[in-house]
Amino acid sequence: MSRSIAKEDSRMQTKRVLLTLDEFTPAEFKTLLDLADQFKAERKERTFQHQIPGTSLALLFEKPSTRTRVSFEVAMFELGGHAVVLSPRDMQLSRGETLEDTARTLSQFCHAICARVFSHKTLESFSKSADVPVINALSDLYHPCQTVADIQAIRESKKNLKGLKVAWIGDGNNVCNSLLIGSALAGINVAAACPDKYFPLQEAISKAREISKVTGSFIEVLENPNDAIKGADVVVTDTFVSMGDEERKKERMEVFVPKYQVTQELFSKAKPDAVFMHCLPAHRGEEVISQVIDGPRSIIWKETENRLHAQKAILYTLLKEFSIEP
Ligand code: CP
Ligand code: NVA
Repeated sequence: MSRSIAKEDSRMQTKRVLLTLDEFTPAEFKTLLDLADQFKAERKERTFQHQIPGTSLALLFEKPSTRTRVSFEVAMFELGGHAVVLSPRDMQLSRGETLEDTARTLSQFCHAICARVFSHKTLESFSKSADVPVINALSDLYHPCQTVADIQAIRESKKNLKGLKVAWIGDGNNVCNSLLIGSALAGINVAAACPDKYFPLQEAISKAREISKVTGSFIEVLENPNDAIKGADVVVTDTFVSMGDEERKKERMEVFVPKYQVTQELFSKAKPDAVFMHCLPAHRGEEVISQVIDGPRSIIWKETENRLHAQKAILYTLLKEFSIEP
């Protein structure tokens, strides 16, 4: 990306946090997607430049991660910044130092804090006390960075976003909550089919519906997967047992399997050119069968690749004001 493009983009108001995605307006969300596309093209052409030199990111993981951790770390490297990967187990947090003091301490050294946490409240505490932007790398409630990459992948596959129908099948979890908000920002309609005990977070539904008043999308939550998938352009699912839900695996499986499994039969009820998505890690034979996730209409690898480009767009947007001129 040329410096002039970088300067032009600086008109976007800097966000202090990215916790749920509703911190972005529809126009700002589109700019984020456009930036992600530019970063993708430049990496392919090997013309990318260090866009945020001199910046450092604290990258904290309370839970395991493959994609999020690697994509953020590589993104910081390729943008000319530095990521400090931290495990709370190795920090004074494990000996009782408060979240507030930890956030203030990290703010002295790093230009942003990105954290994957068990409780969303931890991120809210960080963002109250930190003097720098805080990014949600997944909490029990939201996974906004995933949504940026997902909507980038949907736009690449379907070209126009407005009026598309996304069917979410399964657990109304963190990935689903963020997808509702991101879809509303992009003008995409969503039908989420979830067992009533596992509906998406009411706060996420309300945020998405509020945004949809501006973008004209339709956000629907129902129980029957056959109703949700009818006419869908995109079918999305995720694990039935998220990190932190392991103790209730048996109970969850009884509710979700087989009704909410994305089988070939269920997938065939979407549009003939519908694509399949999954944030990964996947459990083949549980939430989706391998013929669908590994089939010709699965775009999971585009979705995964886009994590890197989307993280760059997020980091650039939040950190550009802290970068030094090369
Ligand atoms: N999709 C996703 O966030 O993957 P990781 O848990 O590997 O980061
Ligand atoms: N819903 C899953 C997503 C993993 C990337 C979880 O929270 O474990």
